Amino acid sequence: MKNELDIDGLLDDRQTRIIVCCGSGGVGKTTTSAALALRAAERGRKVVVLTIDPARRLAQSMGIEQLDNTPRPVPGASEGEGSLDAMMLDMKRTFDEVVLSQATPEKAEQILHNPFYIALSSSFAGTQEYMAMEKLGQLYRDAEASGSYDLIVVDTPPSRSALDFLDAPERLSSFLDGRFIRMMLAPARGPARLMSAGFSLVTGALSKVLGGQFLKDLQMFVSALDTVFGGFRARAQQTYALLQARGTAFLVVAAPEDDALREAAYFVERLQGDRMPLAGLVVNRAAVSDHTDLSVAAAMAATERLGAESVTAGLLRIHADRERLVARQRTLRQRFAAAHPQVASVVVPALAGDVHDLDGLREIGRLLAGARAED
Ligand SMILES: Nc1ncnc2c1ncn2[C@@H]1O[C@H](COP(=O)(O)OP(=O)(O)OP(=O)(O)O)[C@@H](O)[C@H]1O
Ligand SMILES: [Mg+2]
Repeated sequence: MKNELDIDGLLDDRQTRIIVCCGSGGVGKTTTSAALALRAAERGRKVVVLTIDPARRLAQSMGIEQLDNTPRPVPGASEGEGSLDAMMLDMKRTFDEVVLSQATPEKAEQILHNPFYIALSSSFAGTQEYMAMEKLGQLYRDAEASGSYDLIVVDTPPSRSALDFLDAPERLSSFLDGRFIRMMLAPARGPARLMSAGFSLVTGALSKVLGGQFLKDLQMFVSALDTVFGGFRARAQQTYALLQARGTAFLVVAAPEDDALREAAYFVERLQGDRMPLAGLVVNRAAVSDHTDLSVAAAMAATERLGAESVTAGLLRIHADRERLVARQRTLRQRFAAAHPQVASVVVPALAGDVHDLDGLREIGRLLAGARAED
């Protein structure tokens, strides 16, 4: 029995407030997020899509060329009741906004210019994942307060390890709670005499090697982290809870390949392990059969008769290769479905070219909603 993913049911359900598209690198997360958001808007929802590094032409056609964290209406997106805004996540700016909202203006100014802060906010492993979640939390709170949006579609970064963004709050917390940080915080908090002899030895040695300014910067940064990011951590936990809430739906996007589907299986299990509501699997860029009655065997037999030089034989070989690919992808999907019978799925065929404008997104949206698997 096929377990078909009902995309329009999901988009039309007013209880659906957040859709998160995740999956490994390059599988079509950004495209799927944008296509779902557009389709939802054109079906009457008030949507904002949070994209991460969209391809340039796609960003252009959505009117979000600047990285400025501000949702803007997508030109030509929806003429009906619904609306579509889009934004591109600017990680550093999101970080800065947190600092500005949490610290006094003077303190914020100090932090923003601190070299450690600059390094952390632009390159700490997991920062981008973390910031995506931070921004989602902000958007959600704003949307609930103002009624500006009733659906947020979230794209996720191309993480090296698949679900980094789920680990990010935890990772940042353990970094902040780490021994090194606590040691560095000690002098900033207590009177100097409470500083351990060991610590002064370490700082003394470090000052010699690295220079006093370095250490001052580091201590300033670490104590700032404590004041500013205490709230940060609490909000990360709230956002994590939001992801587990009933109004959230995760879609795992995967390519119809062996490794990709194995990774998708890991995603599905990880989401279930974290009690995140999984809506289903999108198998993107599937090969499409050309639906002739000509079997692979018949095509190959004909190429034998025609000889290697024949153009027709070349075309028949292409046909045979494609049908073999379609069959192999179907087997892979069936294997996935057999192992995860509870996971609904939909197959989106590969379009002939890249998806870089609203018409392309509409087409993907249509396929997401209506595409019938060929089996
Ligand atoms: N069904 C499809 N048919 C044809 N092209 C597609 C399809 N889906 C996605 N693409 C193209 O594949 C490329 C990668 O897609 P996309 O940027 O959405 O992937 P991603 O998962 O967001 O990648 P990253 O992990 O780098 O963020 C894009 O050029 C996009 O236009
Ligand atoms: Mg992407």
